[in-house]
Amino acid sequence: YTISVAKSGGNVTTSTQYGVMEEEINHGGEGGLYAELIRNRAFQGSSLYPSNLDAWSTVGESTMALQNLSKPLSSALPTSVKVSGKGTIGLKNEGWWGIDVRPQKYSGSFYVKGSYKGSFKASLESNITGKTLASVEVTSKSVANEWVQHEFTLTPKSKAANVNNTFSLTFDASKATGGSLDFNLISLFPPTWNNRPNGLRTDLMQAMSDMGPTFLRFPGGNNLEGETIDTRWKWNETLGPLKDRPGRPTTWGYEETGGMGLIEYMQWCDDLGMEPILAVWSGLALNEDIVSEEDIGIYVEDALNEIEFLTGSVDTEYGALRAKYGYPDPWTINFVEVGNEDNLNNGLDSYIAYRFAAFYDAITEKYPSIQVLASTIDMTLPGSAGGDFHLYDVPDNFVAAFNQFDQYTDAHRILLGEIAATEYNNGVGIDWSDYHFSLYPWWIGSVAEAVFFLGAERNADKIIGTTYAPYFMNINSYEWSPTMYSFDADPDDTARSTSWHVYSLFNHNHITNTLPTTSADAYGPLYWVAGLNNKTNSHIWKGAVYNSTETVPVSLTFEGVAKGTKADLTILTAPDAFSMNGVGEANLVNSKTTTIKAGKSGVFSFSLPNLSVAVLTTN
Ligand code: AHR
Repeated sequence: YTISVAKSGGNVTTSTQYGVMEEEINHGGEGGLYAELIRNRAFQGSSLYPSNLDAWSTVGESTMALQNLSKPLSSALPTSVKVSGKGTIGLKNEGWWGIDVRPQKYSGSFYVKGSYKGSFKASLESNITGKTLASVEVTSKSVANEWVQHEFTLTPKSKAANVNNTFSLTFDASKATGGSLDFNLISLFPPTWNNRPNGLRTDLMQAMSDMGPTFLRFPGGNNLEGETIDTRWKWNETLGPLKDRPGRPTTWGYEETGGMGLIEYMQWCDDLGMEPILAVWSGLALNEDIVSEEDIGIYVEDALNEIEFLTGSVDTEYGALRAKYGYPDPWTINFVEVGNEDNLNNGLDSYIAYRFAAFYDAITEKYPSIQVLASTIDMTLPGSAGGDFHLYDVPDNFVAAFNQFDQYTDAHRILLGEIAATEYNNGVGIDWSDYHFSLYPWWIGSVAEAVFFLGAERNADKIIGTTYAPYFMNINSYEWSPTMYSFDADPDDTARSTSWHVYSLFNHNHITNTLPTTSADAYGPLYWVAGLNNKTNSHIWKGAVYNSTETVPVSLTFEGVAKGTKADLTILTAPDAFSMNGVGEANLVNSKTTTIKAGKSGVFSFSLPNLSVAVLTTN
C-alpha cells in the first residue's frame, strides 16, 4: 500500500469521539461499578421481583423474617428484617458473590429499630476458614419504636486469601427487648473513586480513566424504558438520602436499589471529564404500552424538570431542589436523547407521529443550546436533531460497513450509541433468535470494530461519538455478553477487553481534523484514516488489517512532513483471531510501540500483520 496524506481538506472532528454507555444490566452497576458491597441491602422489591432474603443468612440461634412494619424506615423502603433468637445472633451477607477484603478502610452503616442496651459487632469473615478478618464493636443507640442509624468503619490488617468472605452484624439478644431487633439498609463501602460517599468502584473507574472516555450515554438502554410505563427509570426517585430511594425493577431480571442515581451519574461524568448524553423517557415501555398524544405532555414536562434539576440556577424550582440535596452548582447538559431504540417495540409510528416532536420542540425551545437526539435514524430528523445508530453484528459485517458513513449524506449528526461485534462470523450475520454471542470481545471482532471506527473517523463531522454496549458484566450474574469490561468481586480479576485496547489506542490519538488520503490501492485488507491533532501538532495515521493472507507493507507520506521526521508507531496484535481477555486471566493484546523515521521523500515504511490495529503519530 502506498498512501499519501494531503496537507489540507478534510473535516473538523467531534471532541466526543469515544465514550461510555451505561445502563443497569449484567450487575454492571449494582454489584459492579456502584461500590456497595452488601447485596440486597434494603430488601427492595416490586411486583416483578418481590422482596426476599437473597444473599442473607442467620448467625447463631436465630431466625430472620421480612416484615412491612406499620412504622417502616421510610415510605421508599417499607420492608425490613426482624432478627430474633437467643444469645449472640445476627445476620450475614455474602456480598455480590463474594466480598473483597484488603487493608483499607470500609465505611458501613445500618438502621435498627428496637430497644437494645448492648453493642453490635460488625465484622468481615472468611467463609472458608471462619476467621475474622476485621471487626468492630458499635455501641447501640437503638430505642424502641424509632429507626436509628449506626455508623462504623472496618479496617482489615491484611488482604484475604480470596473473595469468599462475608459481612456479619450481630447483637446480644438477651439485651434486646423481646429478644429481637428490626434492621434495614445495611451498607458497606470500600474506598471509592475520589473518595465520594456512595461512590464508584476504583478498579473499574481506573480502567475507564485509562481509556480516556469523552462522553457518557445514560441511563439506557432498555433499562430506561421499563417493562411497563410505571416501571420506567424515574430520575426523581434516584435522589437524596438512600433511605428515600425506592429502587425499581430493571428490565434485566433484577431489582435495582436506586443507589446509583442521577447525581452519581453526573459525578461520574465530572470525575472522568465526560460529556453527559442524558437519555429521557420518551413514552414507550418494553411491553409496547405507548403514551397517547393527549398524555405525552406530562412526560415532556418531567423531562424539562429533569433538565432544570441538572442545569437550572438555584432560583428555579428544580435547581433549588438540587441545591437542597447539596449541589448548588448547576451542571451543563449539551445532549439529550429522547428514549431508546424507539424504532423497536412497535414504537416508530408514534415516535414519528408525535412523541419525538413533543420532546424535541419543548426542549429546543427552552434549551436552544442542547442538541436533542432521536433514539433512531429510521426517520426524517427535524431541525437540529441528531440520531442514534446501534450495531450488534458479526465481524465481517462491521468491515462491510466501513464505508457506511461515506454514504451518509444527511446533515444531521448521529451518535453510534451501541456498537459491538457480538457473534462469530458465520456467513449469514447475527441471528437474534439464536443467541450465540461471545462471552467476551474477541480479537477478530475487535479488529472488525476498529475497521468500522476508521470509517466513522473518516466522517467524524457526521458522527457525535461511538461507544461499546453493554459496558459492564459481573461474570457471576449477567444477561448479555460480550461487554467492554468483565469482572467479579475481586478487583484484581477485572478484564479490560480486547476492544478496550482498540478504544484506548484510538482515543489517545485523537484526530481533530481529518486529512484526505489517496492511494492506488483499494481499502481491504488494509483500512485507514489520517489527520492532524491541532493541539499536539502531530500528524496521525490509523489503520487496521482484516483478513489478509500476508503481512501488509505500507509506504506512508504526509504532504509537508520532511525526511528525518520521527514518528511513534504502535501496533496491536493478539495470538489469534479468537483471543479474548477473560475475568481473572492475563491480557492477550500485545501493544508494541517503536519509533520510526521518515526516509527518502518523507516516506514512513512499515508493515502490519494480519489482524492488527495500528496508529502512527509524528513527534
Ligand atoms: O446493550 C444491551 C441492549 O441492547 C440495550 O439495552 C438496548 O438498547 C439494545 O437493544
